[in-house]
Amino acid sequence: MARKLIMMRNIIKRYYIGQPNELQILNGIDLDIHEGEFVAIVGASGSGKSTLMNMIGALDRPTEGTYFLNDTDVSRLNDKQLSTIRNKEIGFVFQTFNLIPRANALKNVELPMLYAGMKKKERQERAMELLKLVDMQDRYTHKPNELSGGQKQRVAIARAMANDPSIILADEPTGALDSKTGHMVMDIFHRLHDEEGKTIVLITHSPELAAETERIVTISDGSIISDTGDKNKEKPDALNSETEVSAE
Ligand SMILES: Nc1ncnc2c1ncn2[C@@H]1O[C@H](COP(=O)(O)OP(=O)(O)OP(=O)(O)O)[C@@H](O)[C@H]1O
Ligand SMILES: [Mg+2]
Repeated sequence: MARKLIMMRNIIKRYYIGQPNELQILNGIDLDIHEGEFVAIVGASGSGKSTLMNMIGALDRPTEGTYFLNDTDVSRLNDKQLSTIRNKEIGFVFQTFNLIPRANALKNVELPMLYAGMKKKERQERAMELLKLVDMQDRYTHKPNELSGGQKQRVAIARAMANDPSIILADEPTGALDSKTGHMVMDIFHRLHDEEGKTIVLITHSPELAAETERIVTISDGSIISDTGDKNKEKPDALNSETEVSAE
């Protein structure tokens, strides 16, 4: 059975705690994600997808609940430990690319490795390899404002892969791209999943893109209202044998 990378139990997120305008945005999320899965998270605007992504990505701590990321209890980490685990375990891809404007493509991809303490030569070599992986090796000296949207996102994906993270976490990565470019970016995620065995969590508004993944988790008003399935989920024995009988 594949390794469990994410285990969330009863995750609650509130804002303005104790104030009259207190808001509860996540209402007790239970979510397991195993190594090698490609999962889409969908839901209406304001349903809590990005809030959940911030939790999964250890950008923020839950108000209540338990979260283990690759066997580390995230709820107990201080800010410095959070940033260390983030840099090691998570590769982020955002709708707005979030590249450093003054740095060229190569430098942008090197940055997470610099933070991780990797030596310059090794860093540059790996950054070039990653740019090749997303077919951006010819543009490595270009700065973000010299690249198209799709090219920027490919650089951002190469950067997300820099420290060989356990999980690629992408929030609306095709949201700022036209549909053709969006599909090209989606094809890169498929390649990372199929060929590199990457675990990918993709937040998207697009039912079409979600349908290309293996599993769709739907959020509504801060709760998971449907989950097409974690194939690694332990089932009670009785259920297993029932499934076997009915499958015959
Ligand atoms: N820092 C914050 N303080 C207070 N409320 C917040 C904060 N961040 C998010 N919210 C609220 O939480 C709710 C969920 O926001 P979130 O960004 O998670 O939605 P989303 O599902 O990602 O939406 P979209 O599809 O538009 O990106 C919204 O009602 C938002 O106003
Ligand atoms: Mg969002």
